[in-house]
Amino acid sequence: MSNMKINMNNIENVLESLNSKTLRVCVIGIGRIGLPTALSFAKSGLETIGVDINENLVQNINSGKFPLKDEPGYEKIFNDVINEKKFSATTNIDEAVPNSDLILLSLPTPMNENNIPDYSALRIVASKLSDILSPNSLVIVESTIEPGFIEDEMVEIISDNDRLDVEKNFFIGVCPENANPGEILHDFTNLPRLVGGINQNISKVIQKIYSYVFGVELIELPDCKTANAVKLTTNVFRDINIAFINELSIMFEKLGIDTIKVLEAAKKKYNFQIHYPGAGVGGPCLPINSYQFLNTARRIGSELNIIESSRRINEKMPDYVVELLLDALKECNKTIKNSHILLLGVSYKPNVKDIQLTPAEHIITKLQSLGAIVHIYDPHYVSNTLFGIDTEENLEKIISNMDSTIIVTAHQEFKKIEISLFKRMKTPILIDTRGIIEPEIAKQNKLIFRGLGRGHF
Ligand SMILES: NC(=O)c1ccc[n+]([C@@H]2O[C@H](COP(=O)([O-])OP(=O)(O)OC[C@H]3O[C@@H](n4cnc5c(N)ncnc54)[C@H](O)[C@@H]3O)[C@@H](O)[C@H]2O)c1
Repeated sequence: MSNMKINMNNIENVLESLNSKTLRVCVIGIGRIGLPTALSFAKSGLETIGVDINENLVQNINSGKFPLKDEPGYEKIFNDVINEKKFSATTNIDEAVPNSDLILLSLPTPMNENNIPDYSALRIVASKLSDILSPNSLVIVESTIEPGFIEDEMVEIISDNDRLDVEKNFFIGVCPENANPGEILHDFTNLPRLVGGINQNISKVIQKIYSYVFGVELIELPDCKTANAVKLTTNVFRDINIAFINELSIMFEKLGIDTIKVLEAAKKKYNFQIHYPGAGVGGPCLPINSYQFLNTARRIGSELNIIESSRRINEKMPDYVVELLLDALKECNKTIKNSHILLLGVSYKPNVKDIQLTPAEHIITKLQSLGAIVHIYDPHYVSNTLFGIDTEENLEKIISNMDSTIIVTAHQEFKKIEISLFKRMKTPILIDTRGIIEPEIAKQNKLIFRGLGRGHF
């Protein structure tokens, strides 16, 4: 490893270090987003070290075990860069940071049980950086943060002990991550990235680095807070639009109108953007991002009524799913108590292994509080214990013991299930919250069917 310190404020210096592959990179937080980021930097030939407090993760990585099996394309990159010794992981931040020129932060930004965003990981690491960051380094925050967090907090924490002075001997910017879990390699190499810097020169430096590593379009914003505002706006736009369709779909259902037919026709209009109804909105992004904006508004005394009511609507969807089931049970003169209910899918989105803030959890809790016996089948979670339930291994084997099935996640595998399988349930009640079963087909097969937003049959 070269010991030459690169001045990250000097664009010529940075370009040289990219071409000679002497730029040393440290990614702090090597989870779902940070690990693929680190691997992409290493793949471009830059020596990269990943720092994480999760000792197990670090150990697994260093012994060649790739932890993100549901991210196509990255396992090979992982094996290559480990073999070429371009990438390794450590828990030792004190050693990794001073030996690096570029520090990327991909730390978690979750929220607490009162829906208040929690930036403690970023604050802890920022305070550490104030002690160990070597002069003339560049810090790039990829985590999703509220507009103003860099300017009002990070800079202050890093310069706290008077050793470092922003824009003089340390530099900071943002490049908010916007990849979709399950499609990260595709998104990293295709989606445009937002860039904001503490000044225009740093913004240019960041663009050079990301263009070198990812080769994608870079969108230059005037500052960090604008880049973070764009990131939140795009995700919150989705949360709001899903809430709009969720609310409409409940009304359409009562009117005997199939929401899917409405949406398919509506999308032919050039300026309509399709969003689908569903059991709720989960994951590490959309719900939290809405609460991040709400937190910003509260802090500065603004109002964001649409976001507030959208959250309320989306958070009520799991209850609505249970209502659909209760209605179907009533039709069969059955009670929920002691009924065996199977959830198909617990991931918050299709085709990924991720249950963060999944609406499935609320559905399960609600069903259990009504006395139901809940079963889970999810191809990403076989032989697991989730929410206190041992997940099922074989759908075919258990289906005949079920009183009802609720499709919660539109995993690809569920789209291939023969409808006849559901006829084998003790009571053939099928609740589809994701629009993957055609109501007509369910009817022809004599299922007691409720499709969320699809009218009653
Ligand atoms: N997952 C997504 O879909 C997604 C998409 C876009 C943006 N983001 C944003 O990216 C950021 C990271 O999200 P993620 O999904 O990769 O999170 P993650 O939980 O998968 O990974 C975060 C990693 O940081 C580590 N960590 C926590 N505290 C640490 C500390 N003090 N020092 C070192 N390591 C520490 C954790 O152990 C974990 O491995 C968040 O701000 C998130 O909002 C996530």
